[in-house]
Amino acid sequence: MPDDLTRRKLLGAASTGLLATRVARSASTDKPAVLGGSPVRTAPFPSWPVIAESEERAWMKVLRGGKWNRLDGDYTRQFEETWAATLGAKHCLATANGTSALIISLNALGVGPGDEVIVPPYTFVATVNAVLMQHAIPVFVDTDPETFQIDARKIEAAITGRTRCILPVHLGGSPADMDAILEIGRKHSLPVVEDACQAHLAEWRHRKVSTLGSLGCFSFQASKNLNSGEGGAILTDDTDLYRVCQSFHNNGRGDAGSGFGYVRNGANLRMTEFQAVLLAEQLKRVEEQARRREQNAAYLTKQLAEIPGIRPARMYPGATRNAYHLYMLRYEKEQFASLPRARFLKALEAEGIPCSSGYSPLNKEPFLKNTFDSRAYRGIYPAKQLAEWFDRNHCPANDKLCEEGVWFTQTMLLGPREDMDQIAEAVRKIQRQSGTLARA
Ligand SMILES: Cc1ncc(COP(=O)(O)O)c(C=O)c1O
Repeated sequence: MPDDLTRRKLLGAASTGLLATRVARSASTDKPAVLGGSPVRTAPFPSWPVIAESEERAWMKVLRGGKWNRLDGDYTRQFEETWAATLGAKHCLATANGTSALIISLNALGVGPGDEVIVPPYTFVATVNAVLMQHAIPVFVDTDPETFQIDARKIEAAITGRTRCILPVHLGGSPADMDAILEIGRKHSLPVVEDACQAHLAEWRHRKVSTLGSLGCFSFQASKNLNSGEGGAILTDDTDLYRVCQSFHNNGRGDAGSGFGYVRNGANLRMTEFQAVLLAEQLKRVEEQARRREQNAAYLTKQLAEIPGIRPARMYPGATRNAYHLYMLRYEKEQFASLPRARFLKALEAEGIPCSSGYSPLNKEPFLKNTFDSRAYRGIYPAKQLAEWFDRNHCPANDKLCEEGVWFTQTMLLGPREDMDQIAEAVRKIQRQSGTLARA
């Protein structure tokens, strides 16, 4: 995209009044902030978490009450009831964090050594670590670059006799293609565990995600749209599965109490009353915040989609609500005078717009090879199977996506609409100046 107007464009611009804007903008105001110009934005975006006096009061109530553990107090149970009702699930089990929610879920389904679990490569590492903690093998299915979600069209080809479970992620809060995934699960008798850790209140065909598969998992870690610093939850309609999860997360006890009767192996993965009481307060704002994110994201998408080389993530037609934990887009440098993404991001940051490049390819992480080389894995799996894993786990679409991805965080969608105008204007400014930036 050239920095200077061509003659023809100049005439067109003059007739539409664009010229005045363009001239007013002129050299000094349009100079990229990264090269010493004035930034598009100087104000900070909304801070996170939102803390009101009610949080303080609630926290102090738990502190002073002295019942800090869920086995003594009531807040965790109350949160479970509220969250289950909000999502339309029969059961909710609160957990220490999202990772433990995933580990408990896979454990309850009996996923273990020798099993394969289908996962996306475009996710936070915890999705994959939960599989490895079971000494099972994660099998990566490539990403649909249009949506940033697991490409459901490629799942069946990855299923073998060893596949035990499908673990899709609603990445960034945008629902994965659940019609296709649930259908594949039914056809192959495979349970589906939804990693909804980033997808609070997201919906597929007007049903809340996490309630569609056998089990659904949330995270309430500090960055999440519903936040208690750390925390997690499992949602399910299956009472038997719920009971196993409940028991496993409570050291394998036979009931929800603190006695010494054990019916299985387990761990202490319980939520504390402090986490639960914070969640109860944060829950009061979650719907209003979700609506604001949706409105701002829709407005931002309209503007960004008009910029050549900026490709906001699409949603599947069945996705009726996006939680927008992340606002994701692809950056095509060809439309920005070949300015590399890293320099685009730096320029955008300098304009006052925080941004990041998102995930790198998880399927290529060296820690996977190290894990497969471990004594435990070598003891469970034939060397040939582990060696073949590397041939089965190429994800070329994901590789490209990881080179093009750009993220804005959910907090940037919580302010006024003018904030969206500034994000879009900063991108447009960089595009206008991309030639200069690329040469600098
Ligand atoms: C997709 C996904 N899965 C799992 C997790 C793990 O959650 P936690 O950090 O609460 O353990 C996260 C959290 O960042 C996540 O984003």
